[in-house]
Amino acid sequence: MHIPDVTADNAVASALAEWMIVAYDAYMPTCSHTRIKLRGPPRPSWLYGYNKIFLTTPSAQLHETWQAKYGDAYSLPVAVGETRIALLDPKALVWVFSSNVYNYVRPVGQSKLVASLVWDDHKRIRKTMMPGFTPAALRSFTTVFLEEAYHVKDAWSTMFSEQKGGLDSIGKAGFGHDFASVTGEKPLIQKLLDSFGTSRQSPITALVLSLVHAFPILVDLPTKRKVFRDKLRMAMMGIATDILEESHKVGEEGRKSLIENVLSRSTSFPPIHHSWQINTIMFAGYDTTSTTLLWALHELSLNPTAQSKLREELSQFHEPTYDHLREKMVYLDAVVKEVLRLHPSIVEIYWNAIKDDVLPLARPITTASGEQISQIPIKGGQGITVPIEALVRSPAIWGEDSHEFRPERWNEHLPERVREFHAWSNLWTFGDGPRGCIGRTFAIAELKAVICILIQNFTFEPLTPGGKDVRRVPGVTPRPVNDGSHGLKLRVSQIGMD
Ligand code: HEM
Repeated sequence: MHIPDVTADNAVASALAEWMIVAYDAYMPTCSHTRIKLRGPPRPSWLYGYNKIFLTTPSAQLHETWQAKYGDAYSLPVAVGETRIALLDPKALVWVFSSNVYNYVRPVGQSKLVASLVWDDHKRIRKTMMPGFTPAALRSFTTVFLEEAYHVKDAWSTMFSEQKGGLDSIGKAGFGHDFASVTGEKPLIQKLLDSFGTSRQSPITALVLSLVHAFPILVDLPTKRKVFRDKLRMAMMGIATDILEESHKVGEEGRKSLIENVLSRSTSFPPIHHSWQINTIMFAGYDTTSTTLLWALHELSLNPTAQSKLREELSQFHEPTYDHLREKMVYLDAVVKEVLRLHPSIVEIYWNAIKDDVLPLARPITTASGEQISQIPIKGGQGITVPIEALVRSPAIWGEDSHEFRPERWNEHLPERVREFHAWSNLWTFGDGPRGCIGRTFAIAELKAVICILIQNFTFEPLTPGGKDVRRVPGVTPRPVNDGSHGLKLRVSQIGMD
């Protein structure tokens, strides 16, 4: 396997790296948290481990190779001589995500990067958010998703030669807020996310990202990424303030947005908590859902047979409803699952054990000394990496055609190995357990509503044959981007306009 080298370090980055080694040696005890030595890929560098390589090579590509060689749990060399355990074993995953979930916390470096997703008082805060995601709430949001998808359709139909339209149902249904993507300019948040996704990574940013778990203080260095994070945070705070003001007014037709539902149950929390909850939902829900939609249109553009088959199914529903989307559109359901499988927005999840633990395994692995073990004893502090992208793409789990876009697989008998996984639809795209994605049903309803209306009304083709110029760019979430552009470009034709 060819492992590309990351951009050459410049002098500042190297000097910084040297300073950090000295600082680390002086202040941190050398720690090894595993009790048993597991097999795993050799360490490419003491300072970076594999972290720097992960910045340029898709996670699934690396983990699939290692899973084939070392099994479903192995030792992964990371920064400053540390190792994490990579886990792809279904029984161990249930243990970490459900049975003993509160023994695991986010690594400090990551919690500094995405502070909004780290809740000290997780159980209580999650409880206050739940009313926003009930089936009744979802039914009413789906009406908003469909209305917004029709707005997009109308906007595209009228300005067909000069498309400005974007999608903003998360804005309306989620926040009762118009991010103005359909009618006017791209919203600021979207502009920031687009530019972030396509801008080149500087050597300092690469250094910070590679070492942030070991040196959380690096997050505060004035890198391009920090400037981006600060701008995004400011933009989100601005929107959060507007949403809070709007949330005091009665919504259109008395309808409550998701955030109003959530806030009405959080009156015991101080006001700062409210804007913070809005930020969490925006951060977790906006980019993930919109990039998944881009992947869906990209895959359908590359697979005209699947696109036609989907259109044929959807043509039976002239006025689609929540119940149609949920139960009747079988192929649409398969298409959405297949996109979520091939293109998970969250590529890896990281946990650190608080206390000693024993991870049970569904199938034994061989240790570095050749011993067969069916559980892994770990010490408090041990880091765990869950390679989501490999879990949903690995040929060892999904079979030989695992890298193909084939929605039909969802209406066949899924492989035995897949059915061992506990998560929703045996897919790890939304995580699992008490800390799994709270917005899953919301995201799925939105994706289905938008894809349904778009496919009923437009055809999608790649700009170049086979979409050869489309790359996967690792932004906040990985997104499809045409070479030399900031986004995905497709040839779109309106049905019945030839
Ligand atoms: C395709 C779309 C989405 C994907 C793939 C996705 C994926 C995920 C994943 C994997 C996690 C677990 C992260 C971890 O354990 O580190 C998560 C958590 C979360 N998601 Fe989503 N998500 C999506 C859409 C949404 C939407 C639309 C919302 C809200 C409207 C949302 C709200 C959240 C929240 C609040 C959490 C934190 C839950 C907790 O810690 O208890 N997500 N999401």
